[in-house]
Amino acid sequence: MQRVLVTGANRGLGLEFVHQLLARGTRVIAACRQPGRAMKLTELAAAHPGHLSVLPLDLNKERSITGLAHEAGMLTDKLDALINNAGVLVSGERYGELAAKTFAETFATNVIGPLLLTQALTALLEHGKAARVINLSSDLGSQGDTVAFNTPSYAISKAALNMVTRLTAAELGARGITVISLNPGWVKTDMGGAHAPLAVNESVAGMLKVIDGLKPGDGGRFLDYNGAEVAR
Ligand SMILES: NC(=O)c1ccc[n+]([C@@H]2O[C@H](COP(=O)([O-])OP(=O)(O)OC[C@H]3O[C@@H](n4cnc5c(N)ncnc54)[C@H](OP(=O)(O)O)[C@@H]3O)[C@@H](O)[C@H]2O)c1
Repeated sequence: MQRVLVTGANRGLGLEFVHQLLARGTRVIAACRQPGRAMKLTELAAAHPGHLSVLPLDLNKERSITGLAHEAGMLTDKLDALINNAGVLVSGERYGELAAKTFAETFATNVIGPLLLTQALTALLEHGKAARVINLSSDLGSQGDTVAFNTPSYAISKAALNMVTRLTAAELGARGITVISLNPGWVKTDMGGAHAPLAVNESVAGMLKVIDGLKPGDGGRFLDYNGAEVAR
């Protein structure tokens, strides 16, 4: 992969994707809400001149999505991968106290944003080499594995994101773009928390190996960071 766009690139798994991709010599467009505050990305851009561009993106704002696609198109005429990494998990939801606002905001970030961003970047992906769209999902979005009422807005949003993967895989497969859902495992980040068993570098190294090994027939699959199939 020569050119990759990563969302939510200022911290957590997104930042580690940027690190590991730059270490391979990949040119990266790192999208985040506040580039001016993304000090680690600024340092990486200085250390990898010409290889890292940092652009603003707020997935909850449609104009920000189209704006990012426009700016990305000024930087490159092709993308080999879009990593839809940015996501949000609102903790503390309880049955009996659910609020529509939490669902609406979570869906905007975790479902609608990645779908609209994929749509906005399709022309660049069509010009990429065996291009891939990677939707960072979660085993909490697995309907088959769900037995407790935990993190409902997040879980439902990731189940819906898996449908986004299936729909876009069907639409884009014929255009040479492979779309999958990828579960990073339970990882030590702000979202995963300190008790998570996996380190970010381990999870991202595993995910990049899976991404490298994707074939056109893999479109629509839901895979783990170690390449295993996850129950839908
Ligand atoms: N960590 C885990 O154990 C785990 C497990 C399963 C799945 N995942 C998935 O993996 C992905 C990355 O997770 P993480 O652990 O790295 O999370 P994280 O540390 O909480 O980072 C989330 C990233 O998403 C960005 N983001 C949130 N809302 C956004 C919006 N409206 N527009 C643009 N960017 C937005 C954040 O930006 P700000 O800094 O501006 O808030 C941040 O860069 C997520 O999709 C998550 O659901 C994580």
